[in-house]
Amino acid sequence: MNIKEQANSQKIYEFKISNGSILSIKQQNDSLNHGTTIWDSSIVTAQYMQHLLRSSKDSLNDKKCIELGSGCGLLGLVMCSMGLQTTLTDLEYVAVNILKDNVKYNLWILNQQRQKNDCLFDAQVKVLDWTITQLQPPEFTPPYDYIVATDCIYSLDLIHHFIRCINELANEKSFIFCGLERRDPFVTETFINACKDGFNVVKIPEKKLRKIIFKDLDDNISNVNVEIYRLKKKKH
Ligand SMILES: C[S@@+](CC[C@H](N)C(=O)[O-])C[C@H]1O[C@@H](n2cnc3c(N)ncnc32)[C@H](O)[C@@H]1O
Repeated sequence: MNIKEQANSQKIYEFKISNGSILSIKQQNDSLNHGTTIWDSSIVTAQYMQHLLRSSKDSLNDKKCIELGSGCGLLGLVMCSMGLQTTLTDLEYVAVNILKDNVKYNLWILNQQRQKNDCLFDAQVKVLDWTITQLQPPEFTPPYDYIVATDCIYSLDLIHHFIRCINELANEKSFIFCGLERRDPFVTETFINACKDGFNVVKIPEKKLRKIIFKDLDDNISNVNVEIYRLKKKKH
């Protein structure tokens, strides 16, 4: 992953995806908003999801993915690059000020570099506030096959709103992946325990995660404490 510094305190992250294309994701470090920075858990989870989806035997082009709290959009764009119809979401400020541009630009890159047999890559940006949004058609079309989110659990207040959202967006077949850095163990444990009411929760073993992804990432990131949880909605 290369980082290019620009004037006006913007940085461009370059992320090589499995077909050789390079995603260029803009971030704005001086905005005092969480969503305008690319967090390490999105880089690690994006790498992990690429590995997982590459080995999937299912066709991905007819699968729908939604990302919650997309921020700059790296993970959602990687899901899109694997062929999933992807909806990236965030609060209005983030969606308007950084996410829309990143998605528009990288969608153009992906479609320019698409191979003969590839379908058109498809991604949309939508405003979704976990505390107020009703997740219904036509704006949202649950159930989604994949629901992904990284670094979205950093405050106790958000936990039940976030879980309500994934519960509304998923059915028993949906694959849900949450990547996070364990900054506050109490918040992380409260989240995991709250999830266990409605979902089966499996932590991707650290050894497996390291083996799959860290060889491709730079040293700074391989030292970070990123954890990935796979959730499956329980059958009633
Ligand atoms: C730490 S950032 C992570 C961004 C990105 N997922 C990443 O890992 O780089 C947390 C994200 O959650 C979003 N967020 C916080 N509260 C939210 C809410 N109530 N509804 C929707 N998104 C929210 C923020 O706007 C921000 O983009």
